[in-house]
Amino acid sequence: MAMTSAANPPLGLLAELTHRCPLRCPYCSNPTELEQAAQELSTAEWGRVFREAAALGVLQLHVSGGEPAARRDLEAIIAHASEAGLYTNLITSGVSLDARRLAALAEAGLDHVQLSIQAADAATGDRIGGMPGGHNRKLAFAQLVREAGLPLTVNAVLHRQNLDALPEMIELALALGAGRLELAHVQYHGWAYRNRAALLPSRAQLDAATTTIAAARPALRGRLVIDDVAPDYHAQRPKACMGGWGSSILVVTPSGKVLPCHAAAGLPGFDFPDVRTTSLREIWQHSDAFNRFRGTSWMPEPCRGCERREKDWGGCRCQAFALTGDAAATDPACALSPHHALLQSALEEAAASDGAFQYREMRRQPAAAG
Ligand code: SF4
Ligand code: FES
Repeated sequence: MAMTSAANPPLGLLAELTHRCPLRCPYCSNPTELEQAAQELSTAEWGRVFREAAALGVLQLHVSGGEPAARRDLEAIIAHASEAGLYTNLITSGVSLDARRLAALAEAGLDHVQLSIQAADAATGDRIGGMPGGHNRKLAFAQLVREAGLPLTVNAVLHRQNLDALPEMIELALALGAGRLELAHVQYHGWAYRNRAALLPSRAQLDAATTTIAAARPALRGRLVIDDVAPDYHAQRPKACMGGWGSSILVVTPSGKVLPCHAAAGLPGFDFPDVRTTSLREIWQHSDAFNRFRGTSWMPEPCRGCERREKDWGGCRCQAFALTGDAAATDPACALSPHHALLQSALEEAAASDGAFQYREMRRQPAAAG
């Protein structure tokens, strides 16, 4: 049996410090049932998680949320990560960090900043992020990052309502002093699945974007690296989501649940392990959650007999579940899937949509009884 071996150490840990966030992006990668502040791991618990991760072989830590700066102890958390020997990348919306906090983060050992942008202009950015004034705060924050001497990646989440401005977003990344631009098409799980009709781009938009990227890459060589991943709904074959289930990444949620990908919390039939009760090593090597879709032995046809099964690992489990109700099905992004036509139906639905968003929101915790 071909396996992505549990003996191979994970490369990265994505630490979702909190689901709190001042923005309300309609494609947020957090689950629709957001975890509450009272459930969050403490500073010391995160420190232990980082030490366990480093001992397991993790090299890179991506500190994310929600907005990680919503944690007042972010500086102490970064210090724990740095002391554990991890390379630390802060994934932030940039709307709530000032020069004082950024300097403290750099002092604590922060290695890299990844700033998300919603659009190239303030009106569109503020509308998509659901936060008036947010876009200009991001621009000011990028300036602070540059002044602090930290390397900057700009991350732009692409969809129908901003894709036509891709040339301007590339210009903006350059103007902000980024060394890298990540062009990430929306992945349709959770909030984004709810907003799919408003977000799916057309084939013509995608083709224009592909032409823009192909021209920009050589023109900007040595100034800006551009990473992009083709979106699934226009694909004939899926991508290896997360590089393959349980193969290289661990995600720890604000309350300490450990997931093989950021969207897995929405999958039924899992009892995801918890860092409060189980070590990361035990979770990585022996938990059902990480072993369920490792390798190829779980695969149905047509993946089971397919020559690409160890390249794309059958695609995305969360997308398979969202579209077919079965997390073990072949990802419908594959043209060999019996469900591939669902993608065309979704694209037709999107073409007829008025583009209105359902923004992300955090449900208030009901008052405790008694
Ligand atoms: Fe990948 Fe499965 Fe499609 Fe083959 S059949 S290309 S393994 S998703
Ligand atoms: Fe969960 Fe792809 S997002 S496996």
